[in-house]
Amino acid sequence: MGNPTFYHTTVLLQETVAGLDIKKDGVYVDATFGGGGHSRLILEQLGREGKLLSFDHDADAWRNKPDDERLVPVTENFRYIKRFLRLHGHPEVDGILADLGVSSFQFDTAERGFSIRFDGPLDMRMDKRIEMTAADVLQTYGEQQLHKLFEQYGEVRNARQLAKHIVTERNKVKLTTIESLKSMIAPVVKGLPQRYLAQLFQALRIEVNDEFGALKEFLQQAAMSLKPGGRLSVITFHSLEDRIVKQFIKQGGWEEAEKDIFGVSTNKSTLRAVNNKPMEPTEEEIKNNPRARSARLRIAEKI
Ligand SMILES: C[S@@+](CC[C@H](N)C(=O)[O-])C[C@H]1O[C@@H](n2cnc3c(N)ncnc32)[C@H](O)[C@@H]1O
Repeated sequence: MGNPTFYHTTVLLQETVAGLDIKKDGVYVDATFGGGGHSRLILEQLGREGKLLSFDHDADAWRNKPDDERLVPVTENFRYIKRFLRLHGHPEVDGILADLGVSSFQFDTAERGFSIRFDGPLDMRMDKRIEMTAADVLQTYGEQQLHKLFEQYGEVRNARQLAKHIVTERNKVKLTTIESLKSMIAPVVKGLPQRYLAQLFQALRIEVNDEFGALKEFLQQAAMSLKPGGRLSVITFHSLEDRIVKQFIKQGGWEEAEKDIFGVSTNKSTLRAVNNKPMEPTEEEIKNNPRARSARLRIAEKI
């Protein structure tokens, strides 16, 4: 077994698991196993009859798998959670946790291509079974598509100019490594290069892994898979992600709520927010783990 603390420092550990209100003999899901920090605490709180199904689509995560019969590892994308819970004989569960994004291990491994601190391939796939890498996005997407994703997912200041620059330059220089991207875009970088690159990398990572698409499917299926009274705890790291979770809990979807003939909005949500404001890490947690800075926790209960 690997060293889980080295793999990832768990964010909002106690708060997220407390949100599940664990019953000793219940069935729980950790949708994002990572270094297994949340899973371990859930196992500690479960009795002998309890069960934990943990998902992670990155096979590397299971280096941290605790040796525990109550744990069922599922190497699949959580966007298919309903299908795999059924397959494992638990179509309805008592609680589901998700701690979104990448683990420190993924981020700190140069060959995975997530970090601007190293040179490495422009990969960024959390699940190596998917085909499209960050290099493919940069080499094949049209100017408009690149512009939109840099703007929406990365809030890159000059998203239009950056997209245009890449589309012009990519026929001259092949984009395969992080260094090749950095030197190609150097003439159009605005403000602090570190910050600019971090925003661009975030946008590429979200696109490569279809993070928002997966989150939306996950939320719909998670709500259907919870027993009445079952709990959902979700940690997000991006304001767009938090908005998706907040809206889904509130109205059961992402479109503006429909109104009935009396102008009253018809709320389709099967969830009730346990905390109206998202929980944030304490100053102390942020001091010990700066990556926790943007974490927001929302907890909901199935009606
Ligand atoms: C922030 S880490 C989770 C850390 C974990 N809670 C801990 O305490 O160590 C996120 C993990 O979720 C996985 N992940 C992200 N999106 C996923 C998805 N759509 N399906 C399955 N796993 C996913 C990543 O591969 C990563 O290992």
